[in-house]
Amino acid sequence: MRQLGLAGLLVLALSVGAGEAGAKGWGKDYVPNVPVVTQDGKTLKFYDDLVKGKIVVLSFIYTSCKDICPLSTARLGEAQERLGSRVGRDIFFYSISIEPERDTPERLKQYADAFHAGPGWLFLTGLPEDIQQIRYKFGDRRPDLADHRNDVVLGNGTTGEWQRENELGDIEHFVRAIEDMDPAARGGPTAKLAAAKDGAPGPSAAVRPTTVPYDRGHVMEGRQAGSAMFAKLCAGCHTVGRGDHVGPDLDGLTLRRSRAWITEFLINPIKMRARKDPIALALAAKFPGVRMPYLQIHDSDAADLISYIDAHSRQQQPTIALDTLTALTTHEGTHLTAADLKGQPFAVVFGYTHCPDVCPTTLLQWSNLLGGTGTAFKVLFVSVDGDRDTPEVLKAYLAAFDSHITALTGDAAQLAAVAAQFGASYAKVAESNGEYSLDHTVKSYLIDQDGHVAGSIDPETPEPDQRRLLAWLAAR
Ligand code: HEC
Repeated sequence: MRQLGLAGLLVLALSVGAGEAGAKGWGKDYVPNVPVVTQDGKTLKFYDDLVKGKIVVLSFIYTSCKDICPLSTARLGEAQERLGSRVGRDIFFYSISIEPERDTPERLKQYADAFHAGPGWLFLTGLPEDIQQIRYKFGDRRPDLADHRNDVVLGNGTTGEWQRENELGDIEHFVRAIEDMDPAARGGPTAKLAAAKDGAPGPSAAVRPTTVPYDRGHVMEGRQAGSAMFAKLCAGCHTVGRGDHVGPDLDGLTLRRSRAWITEFLINPIKMRARKDPIALALAAKFPGVRMPYLQIHDSDAADLISYIDAHSRQQQPTIALDTLTALTTHEGTHLTAADLKGQPFAVVFGYTHCPDVCPTTLLQWSNLLGGTGTAFKVLFVSVDGDRDTPEVLKAYLAAFDSHITALTGDAAQLAAVAAQFGASYAKVAESNGEYSLDHTVKSYLIDQDGHVAGSIDPETPEPDQRRLLAWLAAR
């Protein structure tokens, strides 16, 4: 799949030329009556069994397509849900594979199941030359798979009327367009039909692009609210709190994944699978039928989507009780006040001054991130070595690092109370020389201005990601 192919592959190709069809609509004479095979292995005649006398939605897809086909198929799933029992009665959906060599009925069955296809929604394959004929007749003449047309074709097998529709726009509009294929539902000629009749007569005029097709820039012009984006790009496959659908339920997402991971996954899930990210691979194994598509999500989109998912999650981030932090003693021998922490983001790191490598590395990274920014962003370095790290020791230690870092210490109970809030752990390990070291969580927890743990970074997080997270945190 070409990275930048999405825009190109969505551009409407040819408009259907005259002379492709008879003058009286596309009926038996025009629609190929070739054999096609369903996801259940049944062979049917395309015109006689699938089109004649029915209202149909044709969608051309292939299952290895990584961006637009899954999104577009998910849209059909949403339409199926809204049309209810009409799908299978008078309305039929056909997702036709344009890669019949690879898309066997078994593969299509798996794909259909992933999208919860009901009885009136068939996934079709067949002999390449037969499929090619259908594809050609319905106006998709591009040789390259990745360049295939993505809008769907709506047809009425009784009247012979056909038209193109963009399934990626407003879902209600899409559903209405399907319903309107039934003349009885229209209550009078619509503009669309009138246009077809006034123009060059015949179906060539009826099958015309009705809307601008998808690419991220078209569906999502500029920055959009998380809710609008979620409705258009995600809701076909995900719920927040209503259970797994095509993909996993996103309820409480930020409780189980770091922001950095989510952001990266949204921006490019293909890349994450390619580099064998263990979580991405485990998810792929759990949802075998279809992969999370590549949707041209930008950084700012990802932040908005995460905020939307967070806001609609039932499982909420725990709020950090600030008084556990203000109970600790600073390296100056004083206490932070609630006012120092309330209403602003900050970070909390656990460590100790005898720590040989990871603590100095973390604090140097923080110094580097904070250095020269002139921000008031606070980093709290909580020593889990209450015995050795007195305020004096901590003060001397901090001299080497940025002045936005505040070290904190306390008694065993106070430290345990703070660590418990973050789910951080630490334990003494005896050394051969009679001394001890401490095994401890190395993450830096990021707290947003509402006192929620909004994510974490660690020394392995690439610096651009660290900066991105901080910028995001500051902008919330
Ligand atoms: C065509 C269906 C589809 C669409 C559209 C889709 N996803 Fe997914 N998503 C999946 C599937 C399937 C998975 C499971 C993992 C995989 O297949 O890569 C997944 C996984 C995820 C995960 C990981 C969940 C976890 O438990 O860690 C997140 C986060 C996610 N999707 C968010 C989104 C968001 C946000 C959007 C909209 C911008 C979106 N997805 C659009 C199908 C989809």
